[in-house]
Amino acid sequence: MKVVRAAYAGACYGVQRALDLALKAVEDGGCAYTLGPLIHNPQVVAQLAECGVRAVDSVEDVAGAGTVVIRSHGVTPEVKRSVAACGLPLVDATCPHVARAQRAAADLAEQGRHVVVVGEAGHPEVEGLVACAREAGAPVSVVAGPDDLPETLEGPVGVVVQTTQTREALDAVVAALEERGVQLLVKNTICFATRQRQEAAAALAGEVDAMVVIGGRNSSNTTRLADICAAACSRTHHVESPDEIDPAWLAGCAVVGVTAGASTPEEQIEAVATLLEAL
Ligand code: F3S
Repeated sequence: MKVVRAAYAGACYGVQRALDLALKAVEDGGCAYTLGPLIHNPQVVAQLAECGVRAVDSVEDVAGAGTVVIRSHGVTPEVKRSVAACGLPLVDATCPHVARAQRAAADLAEQGRHVVVVGEAGHPEVEGLVACAREAGAPVSVVAGPDDLPETLEGPVGVVVQTTQTREALDAVVAALEERGVQLLVKNTICFATRQRQEAAAALAGEVDAMVVIGGRNSSNTTRLADICAAACSRTHHVESPDEIDPAWLAGCAVVGVTAGASTPEEQIEAVATLLEAL
């Protein structure tokens, strides 16, 4: 069986930067605390814990000395203030693309717009975007698609989008708003790495007999890659590690494609590709 890897797959710049900063914080200070798991990848989070990078729910859970690391998804302004107030050293590993989306949400709010965030309600990045817009005094709605739009929108509307969303999701919401004739300003804050991975996954899924998508099940961008692949290739499987692969999935396949979410390290991709090649 031939194994073909997507042209762009795996750990993105923002995730790699957050990992490097957290490990450097351990080197410098002996211990680092991340507010929530550093990345949505349970295997990597377990390895990090062994190295001294511990995930806590909030700054109140930090026990003893250490550096607090804000993960690539970013946090709400309120959480940032609480970290600053606790007096511990702080490393802000918010991905620059997420920081850009946060600024866009605040700008739209400051212009007096009803801010529509296209994204996954409850996702930490989306919570940060919502909080940035609310702090600037705007009404905010989080929508996954046009059906989630509220019946009435107050005043002009500004649209911002979770960095890992698909272009299709954004376009569908924008089209629905345009149909309503609202005064609209759209900030496309989907990050380049996401776009590259989604386009490469879609292209590959259309050419292979089966697709394996690697990454945390709690990873929003990996789940989206799996959805994109499933739309083009019905034999798409989302796994976190090689031991989940059932050879029966690939019966009769001549070519299998592999892609991975932005929080999947190279070793996990290699491990899956090696196993597939051996089948
Ligand atoms: Fe940043 Fe995009 Fe990765 S927002 S964390 S470079 S998926």
